[in-house]
Amino acid sequence: MFGRVKPLDAILATAEKKSLHRSLGPIQLMLLGIGCIIGTGIFVLTAAGAQKAGPGLMIAFAVAGLVCIVAALCYAEIAAMVPVAGSAYTYSYATMGEFLAWTVGWALIMEYAIAAAAVSVGWSGYFTGTILNEFLGVALPPWLAGGPLALGGVEGGLINFPALFIALLVTGLLIIGTSESAKVNAVLVAIKVAALTTFLVLTLPEVELERFNPFLPAGVFGGFGSGVGAVGAAATMFFAYVGFDAVSTAAEETRDPQRNVPIGLIGSLLFCTVFYILVAAGAIGAIGGQPIGPDGFITGGQAPFPAGSAELARQCALPEFSAALVCSDEALAHVLRQIGFSGVGNMLGIAAFVALPSVILVLLFGQTRIFFVMSRDGLLPEVLSKVHPKWRTPYVVTAITGCVVAVAAAFFPVGQLADISNAGTLYAFMMVAVSVMLLRRRDPSRARKFRVPALWLIGPLTIGGCVFLFLNLPFEAMIMLPAWTAIGIVVYLVYGRQRSHLGRGIVEVHEPEYADLEPDIPGVEDRGRP
Ligand code: ALA
Repeated sequence: MFGRVKPLDAILATAEKKSLHRSLGPIQLMLLGIGCIIGTGIFVLTAAGAQKAGPGLMIAFAVAGLVCIVAALCYAEIAAMVPVAGSAYTYSYATMGEFLAWTVGWALIMEYAIAAAAVSVGWSGYFTGTILNEFLGVALPPWLAGGPLALGGVEGGLINFPALFIALLVTGLLIIGTSESAKVNAVLVAIKVAALTTFLVLTLPEVELERFNPFLPAGVFGGFGSGVGAVGAAATMFFAYVGFDAVSTAAEETRDPQRNVPIGLIGSLLFCTVFYILVAAGAIGAIGGQPIGPDGFITGGQAPFPAGSAELARQCALPEFSAALVCSDEALAHVLRQIGFSGVGNMLGIAAFVALPSVILVLLFGQTRIFFVMSRDGLLPEVLSKVHPKWRTPYVVTAITGCVVAVAAAFFPVGQLADISNAGTLYAFMMVAVSVMLLRRRDPSRARKFRVPALWLIGPLTIGGCVFLFLNLPFEAMIMLPAWTAIGIVVYLVYGRQRSHLGRGIVEVHEPEYADLEPDIPGVEDRGRP
């Protein structure tokens, strides 16, 4: 199992032979990245981050951003070198063998599908708060407005219908085609960036320095498994950066990936890191962001209530806390309303309502392409890699993934979904760094269009950073990774190990036997070439 390492040349040749339609350029790629990065993390989870760390949220964004930047450098080197769909899964296959690659692909399901569900739930908060309540004056019946485990333990929740609806709608868009979806994405990115810029212009003049005091009310380390403190917040806010790696999953559909993938990855990430730190400063500096504990706002020494807990929800229901940042489901719109810009706050709410679906879109896109490659390798059923004759998208796997995401979104709360998604993502990022270092050792002469500077520093920093953030997640999220991996190992032993193309000796793409296994894609040979 460990010896089944897929030769890089075979991976590249396979991609050439069975490739998806190549259409994305550098700008579209960067927009794809930003489209996925800016989302529920900043628009919704800012409140949870403040509840964990208070003003230390700014440090949390910086720490999580730093880990992502070093990870992005590793991604850039390997994605430009192996410009095929499949991301961390494919890279691991070429370096650490099939078994570990499978665990990475399996963890990526946790990342993309669960993240897509989390963003759907985040969208549902803005839809319900801004669109239904503020504009239409309508309140959904509680049983339709949130899952049974909804944020803050909302009474009477059964199903989060808006979240279910948006997940299915986006699935439909994806089935119709990547290129069309990327154009829609570009417009939505512009809306998000405009909303955040407006937020900064209005909040930064309101900043008062005493609101940052105490700066670290919950400390730096909240304790193992607690998920609070500045680094606990960093582990959660890491979610706000998830998505840059989706750019690399689109590398197989990119023109001149050697040049464009590093531009897309690092460009989109740097852009967002700067924005996030400023937005956190604006939000906290304008209305304050101290966490709430058993004795009210905590000033140091006490533990804050867990974000999204029933205890916190009860405190938030009291009039003295109703204006607190940490109590809002629509954090950024709430800040603007508090400083007297209700109309602009509602516009920001509309921007989130309109733009968050683009995040779901990119996450689902990444997920389906990873499934596509895993099934192309024989580790998942071949039927999943069927490409639609007209729309040229892997429609079977897109439809199945979309349904699963919709169900998760309908029943689970946003914060928990985000933390679980982070656990899977951190594992995948770590494995990418390991892959890059292994490849430098084993295949030093292969052409690299982008080389990580000081890899022997950046690589270990990425691995250390991922382990560090993982260990600062709440315990319930941390435990999901080994549990999910255990299920994955059973699936692999029962299904993938026997059917693996590599395991059956099908490595050479030019072998007639391999050609027989290709899905029936009329016209793909012509359209698949760059
Ligand atoms: N980074 C994405 C978000 O914050 C997943 O919504």
